[in-house]
Amino acid sequence: MTKAKIFSGVQPSGIPTIGNYIGAMKGFVELQDQYDATYCVVNQHAITVPQDPKTLAENTRQLAALYLAMGMDPNKSTIFVQSDVPAHAQVAWMILCLTGLGELERMTQFKDKANKQESVNAGLLAYPALMVGDIILYDAEYVPVGDDQRQHIELTRNFVDRFNNRYGDLLVKPEAIIPEEGGRVMSLQDPSSKMSKSDTNAKAFISLLDPPKTIIKKVKSAMTDSLGEVNYDTEQQPAVSNLLEIYANLSGQSIDQLVQAYQGKGYGQFKGDLADLIVSTLEPIQARYQILLEGSELDDILADGAKKANKQASQTLARMEKAIGLYY
Ligand code: AMP
Ligand code: TRP
Repeated sequence: MTKAKIFSGVQPSGIPTIGNYIGAMKGFVELQDQYDATYCVVNQHAITVPQDPKTLAENTRQLAALYLAMGMDPNKSTIFVQSDVPAHAQVAWMILCLTGLGELERMTQFKDKANKQESVNAGLLAYPALMVGDIILYDAEYVPVGDDQRQHIELTRNFVDRFNNRYGDLLVKPEAIIPEEGGRVMSLQDPSSKMSKSDTNAKAFISLLDPPKTIIKKVKSAMTDSLGEVNYDTEQQPAVSNLLEIYANLSGQSIDQLVQAYQGKGYGQFKGDLADLIVSTLEPIQARYQILLEGSELDDILADGAKKANKQASQTLARMEKAIGLYY
């Protein structure tokens, strides 16, 4: 039986946080046994906001190393960098020409990001079209992502319906896979905003490359509340609830079990145990990352991944070009 296809990507706009890990990347590793998976470092998405060229290049290679260090396996999955496969930019143009301006202007991530920029480039608005392209090029049936990408997957589904209606059943309609706990990990300093790798306050997130001491410090200084009881209540205790979701996701225990275990124990021990759990989750990943980053195996894997991705993507691209009339 052929396996269903999945696709996902992360932007090399900084070192990923435990939010990226819990919301998306941990799932990438778990899903690759069951699915025919393609995982991409989406560097062309990253340039929709200003990037320092050297930093972007470094972040790209580092993110690819992190993919492998986490357990994404080139023998099971296709792992590549977006700019190595020209079909992504090519398909995005076709998609843009078949997408309404209003559809793009409605995207909440566009509105959020646009509000943070002094000047907004057209790429930031066009970004979801590039993402639609990423997904459809690989005939992906499922897309593992965090909750913030729901709207972009919905846009992809609408695009596929529209395209297939107009040109015949050529594209696969994808579905999002979003984790039940941890689909939206919040900032450690402000439980009303999403944990983000580009937060100006480094205490708000835990990066996957933070050393143990930093992790312990950041968890200890994470915001809680004055109620002093470990309970899951997103209205009254949003900060503690966020820590509980992180704990549950990384430990495999349910939130109920954790709430039971910490009854009457206060926040000190809870935070100490959570910090230990994060450290022990990240230590082996960090050790493998260092080895990968220093060797040349990574570059061979990415070259091979690009070759495989190119083959599949150019087939879908040709199918679409033919349907649209881009031939003579
Ligand atoms: P990005 O860093 O924006 O490229 O995001 C990469 C993946 O991580 C996407 O699937 C996001 O939905 C997911 N993600 C980003 N931030 C969070 C967060 N705070 N909680 C859960 N998932 C997240
Ligand atoms: N837009 C996604 C994010 O910011 C990253 C991304 C780009 C993506 N292309 C994708 C995710 C395709 C899933 C599938 O997180």
